[in-house]
Amino acid sequence: MEKTEKDVNELVEKLKSFQQQSVTYAEELKMAHRCEEERYKKLEETHDALQQIYTETIRVMADVMDSRSRYTRGHSERVRRYCELMGQRLYISDEEMKMLNTAATLHDIGRMDVEQTIWDKPGKLTDTEFEAVKSHAVAGEKMLSPIPFLNKIAEIIRHHHEKYDGTGYPDCISGENIPLTARILAVADSFDAMTSERSYRERIDPDTAIEELKSLSGTQFDPMVIEAFVSIWKKMYV
Ligand SMILES: [Fe+2]
Repeated sequence: MEKTEKDVNELVEKLKSFQQQSVTYAEELKMAHRCEEERYKKLEETHDALQQIYTETIRVMADVMDSRSRYTRGHSERVRRYCELMGQRLYISDEEMKMLNTAATLHDIGRMDVEQTIWDKPGKLTDTEFEAVKSHAVAGEKMLSPIPFLNKIAEIIRHHHEKYDGTGYPDCISGENIPLTARILAVADSFDAMTSERSYRERIDPDTAIEELKSLSGTQFDPMVIEAFVSIWKKMYV
């Protein structure tokens, strides 16, 4: 059926109306997009602020922890630094590196649950005191695991005294059943403990400590991690 001029005019009017509607929709969309962008920007700003508070809180917690005894002053930060260098050497992922950094900073937070006099006791510990000392790994995990974003970090802390041959604590797990981050932390922690003065013994020099670490490769420590530590140590001081 042929279209009359009236029909054509009607169609043109409809078209004009659709066009107007689409312009309105486009403007509304643009506005919604702008609002979304602003919301996203605000979210990013909040996230950054939270991240900063989080980092600052962790640092303060570590400082409080270390300053409880002259034997541990600066320990967490040195352990964190060794861990960071080993992590880079072993090409761990960015996410693992972030977790390792925080775990290293807070690895001994469970010490707060154990009487300070036991940590500072000169000489040999009784069996009961030694059990109390050992409990710090699980205590640290318990302190951090209720906080959702510290969940995985709590797990690393739980295992930082496991030994590669399965004779460590608290779970006596061995080899690759121990998270790699915890195996790295174990080496860094032991090296710093050996080369620092403790209530029960004198500090030993770094070269002797390295030899001791090497002699425990495959039993107490993961050989791959020991290799990484020896390599970063050489680079740091040669
Ligand atoms: Fe520890």
